[in-house]
Amino acid sequence: MNWKFSYAIGFHPWEDTDQAFFQSLSSLLELEEQGREPPYGRALDIGTGSAIWGIELAKRGWEVTGVDVVEKALERGRERVRAAGVQMELVQGDVTRLSKAEVGSGFRLILDTGTFHDLDTEQQQGMARSVDALATEDATVILLCWPRRIRPLIRGVKQEEIEAAFAGWQITDVKPSFFKLPTPLEWVLRPDEHWYRLRRA
Ligand SMILES: C[S@@+](CC[C@H](N)C(=O)[O-])C[C@H]1O[C@@H](n2cnc3c(N)ncnc32)[C@H](O)[C@@H]1O
Repeated sequence: MNWKFSYAIGFHPWEDTDQAFFQSLSSLLELEEQGREPPYGRALDIGTGSAIWGIELAKRGWEVTGVDVVEKALERGRERVRAAGVQMELVQGDVTRLSKAEVGSGFRLILDTGTFHDLDTEQQQGMARSVDALATEDATVILLCWPRRIRPLIRGVKQEEIEAAFAGWQITDVKPSFFKLPTPLEWVLRPDEHWYRLRRA
């Protein structure tokens, strides 16, 4: 997917999700928050786009940094952060080489809603290495992944590819996300995205 072009023409249908998707994400976040009081620690929203889910994390009590490569997406994100009245840092950077972006380290939660599954194998490995370096020992990674390839829109990713890239990590949960696209894209593309929760092996 050409993300820069998508944001330039205002094509970002992944932002129009519904309550079922929100609930599926919330139930995963509850796992990370249960038994603790906010602030929950640092969270990194990978490929944050317009910061929608990073803002939700911030509202729940996470100290959030969002990173994205597309400036236009970050502009939208900054507006949303202002409107929501939350604290969230937004950084421009490449998630496959996060050591070059100034995001810091010590992240207890890494959330990616739709970036990893469009990367090629080398980029996937770069993202996983980056995450490994920035995450705490007790961190959780949550990935939203589309399993099928739909040329030219989406590369798609199989569970084996997630396991291969995140070699020092273990998939603990795989759950349906109930992610929906606006019609008619929903009928044509039939999204079947799943959540993958990973912890260090
Ligand atoms: C499907 S969008 C999801 C955006 C956001 N997470 C959401 O759910 O609304 C994927 C995002 O990943 C970003 N992205 C893709 N490749 C990237 C890279 N190598 N480094 C940083 N961001 C990237 C895109 O710019 C885009 O904002």
